[in-house]
Amino acid sequence: MKLSFHFMIVVYVLMVARYCYTGNNKLLTSPQNAQIQKLLNELNKPPVKSINSPDGDIIDCVPIHQQPAFDHPLLKNHTIKMRPNHYPNPKVDEIKVSSTMNASKDGPSSSSSSSSTTQSWHSNGKCPRGTIPIRRTKREDVLRASSIQSYGKKTFSFPPLNSIESELAINEQHEYAIASTSDGQFYGTKGALNLWNPHVQESNEFSLAQTWIIGGTYDTGLNTIEAGWQVYRDLYGDNNTRLFIYWTSDAYQKTGCYNLCSGFVQTNNKIAIGGTLTPTSQIDGSQYELAIFIWKDGKDGDWWMDINGELVGYWPSSLFSYLRVKATRIDWGGEIVNRGTNGHHTTTQMGSGKFPQKWQQWYRRASYVRKVETVDSSNYLRIPVLNAYHEPHCYDIMTRVTNEDDYWGTHFYFGGPGRNKDCP
Ligand SMILES: *[C@@H]1O[C@H](CO)[C@@H](O)[C@H](O)[C@H]1NC(C)=O
Ligand SMILES: *[C@@H]1O[C@H](CO)[C@@H](O)[C@H](O)[C@H]1NC(C)=O
Ligand SMILES: *[C@@H]1O[C@H](CO)[C@@H](O)[C@H](O)[C@H]1NC(C)=O
Repeated sequence: MKLSFHFMIVVYVLMVARYCYTGNNKLLTSPQNAQIQKLLNELNKPPVKSINSPDGDIIDCVPIHQQPAFDHPLLKNHTIKMRPNHYPNPKVDEIKVSSTMNASKDGPSSSSSSSSTTQSWHSNGKCPRGTIPIRRTKREDVLRASSIQSYGKKTFSFPPLNSIESELAINEQHEYAIASTSDGQFYGTKGALNLWNPHVQESNEFSLAQTWIIGGTYDTGLNTIEAGWQVYRDLYGDNNTRLFIYWTSDAYQKTGCYNLCSGFVQTNNKIAIGGTLTPTSQIDGSQYELAIFIWKDGKDGDWWMDINGELVGYWPSSLFSYLRVKATRIDWGGEIVNRGTNGHHTTTQMGSGKFPQKWQQWYRRASYVRKVETVDSSNYLRIPVLNAYHEPHCYDIMTRVTNEDDYWGTHFYFGGPGRNKDCP
């Protein structure tokens, strides 16, 4: 009797160990295992070299012509381009900007400006020319997803403009602090975000800062191109601040997933999409930035992306419907998911976790996006009119305008702590 009881304990412990090992409360059947292996084989192309990153990632250097983008049915015959045909003209037109505040006097002097960030894996090696660095998808990454099919996907997730969209956003528990361009025709955008490592309370929440390039409306098959930084435990298995990209051509229904989704054609051998960005900014300390520039090539219509001065790659025009022609709205700012655990707003932070207005001196304390510009139909960079929108009480946003030639240009501060006395 006693022996068998001990035996049962041992069996139980082994079962718990196995349960934990699979990660997510799931005991897998062999078809599921086969499905996961199939997905991993699709996502992880045979590398010519692999680099172990200090953050636990494996970065595979994959031959540029074998990247997952070319698995997309629309890109079967695609000939890779290494350079855009055109860059937007850097001339800035004098456009009146709706300002809510005067110029900040507390920015850095030109000699002590913010530094750009790098990626953790750079300390352990480089990808050779002719390859691109890809963060390897591990079995446990897939197991964290609610289903194998949903790995890397996202549901409704863009700043709401009308009542239908607001309803969807509330249902999905998404909250925003964003600056949005008003009606127009846009062929690109540019801006620099400072990087933070916000606290995210629940594993199925996230906190991010990004740009949205939007064509169409939710009910007619929204197209988006998105890029920025995010903290998202469910997707990456840690709390690191990571570079992400995203696109959809049907309002997040069938298309659309983070990072490894086929479709984005990468040309750069230094930047791993999904890789950890390091270091991040410190309150009252050094500020580190991610400068994002995305524009539509006037000749081929592809949307190119440059990050911190590195040409990263492009979204081919053929992936899209509305964005094949132009974007009709451009947003910058922050988004979080609040699961409202135990009837409270969670303590998930946006940006630095500080409200912009609670500080005399915002620079080095709150999250910002500076030098926001958009590309017009003549391929010129322009200063946009920004309209601020935010979730009251939990997060906030303050737009500010300075002379377009200075360090700040059109910029805004945003973020907040989540749960606080005004946001219970
Ligand atoms: C690729 O080329 C083949 C043969 O020319 C053609 O049948 C097919 O439609 C093309 N696919 C795409 C997506 O353009
Ligand atoms: C902004 O600056 C102008 C000129 O320096 C001044 O007249 C105005 O009162 C300021 N506005 C605010 C909101 O501080
Ligand atoms: C991430 O942050 C959460 C919330 O602070 C913490 O509970 C968790 O242990 C962290 N996870 C990792 C992998 O560091």
